Amino acid sequence: EEWKDKGAAVGVREEIDANGKVIYRQVKKGVRDFVFGRTLGEGSYSTVVLGTDRQTLKEYAVKILDKKHIIKEKKIKYVNIEKDTLNRLIEHPGIVRLYYTFQDSSSLYYVLDVASGGELLGVLKKIGSFDEECTRFYGAEILDAIEHMHNRGVIHRDLKPENVLLDDKMHIKITDFGTAKLLPDPRKPKETTPYDPASQDEESTRARSFVGTAEYVSPELLTDKNACKASDLWAFGCIIYQLLTGRPPFKAGNEYQTFQKIVSLDYEFPPGFPPAARDLVERLLVLDPQRRLSIEHIKNHEFFDGIQWGRGLWKMKAPRLK
Ligand code: ADE
Repeated sequence: EEWKDKGAAVGVREEIDANGKVIYRQVKKGVRDFVFGRTLGEGSYSTVVLGTDRQTLKEYAVKILDKKHIIKEKKIKYVNIEKDTLNRLIEHPGIVRLYYTFQDSSSLYYVLDVASGGELLGVLKKIGSFDEECTRFYGAEILDAIEHMHNRGVIHRDLKPENVLLDDKMHIKITDFGTAKLLPDPRKPKETTPYDPASQDEESTRARSFVGTAEYVSPELLTDKNACKASDLWAFGCIIYQLLTGRPPFKAGNEYQTFQKIVSLDYEFPPGFPPAARDLVERLLVLDPQRRLSIEHIKNHEFFDGIQWGRGLWKMKAPRLK
């Protein structure tokens, strides 16, 4: 098996004896550098636990992936995609940051930002639905994060309120890049490592069976088995609708019926749905991905009037949920 950071089982420390003084220089963090605490979340291949750095006392969310299980389910490619993707997306306030990765004989460890507010879905379920102001704010933060991802050549492919976490100040952090698609990084045209043509070949054949979460899947993924940047904007339209109504636009008794509703654009707006939001959603939930509103046009849409795009969004006080 090919784990991307093999040979890093133990945090390697260098011992330098200079002028009779012993100096320890830590080269790489390892399992022993953290005190593990309560479980924050559980996925099918991983558990996320609270981890405290013994030296700095800084808290992290540590995603622990079980090697045996990943090998058995043939998901090695996906854990490497997640790592490559997160390494490409550092330095955006709306995306969970990857600080360190290491491994031991049984597990891989991804040391991430901790988002203590939990999932946006949990908050939404607790209060039912968001008002227009909260939807505008959370929608704007999600869009700003999507723009950063797309500018760096990353398509998330599984955007949904469960993958939008909230930090201690109630700002968002997007997570779960295990099913992301990595395009060549537009900023590094001659990059060789993260863009693996072999994996893209596989993407266009065997791995094309990938489908995100039924309710947020774009029609082009169902009909052409192909996701593009605009597929994330379809999911964004579904999320805006869900924040305002409490439920996703396409929902049925089973996945097949949900897919049928998606490809026939079978959804309705409940009475009282804000008109500006309705116009935006109608321009996002468009079957042809090429005719969907672009990020630039979404930012200029009247629904987002008054939003200060860029740094200001992340510095402002999050609106009280209601
Ligand atoms: N659950 C999954 N990922 C998490 C994170 N980064 N912070 C808090 N809880 C999580």
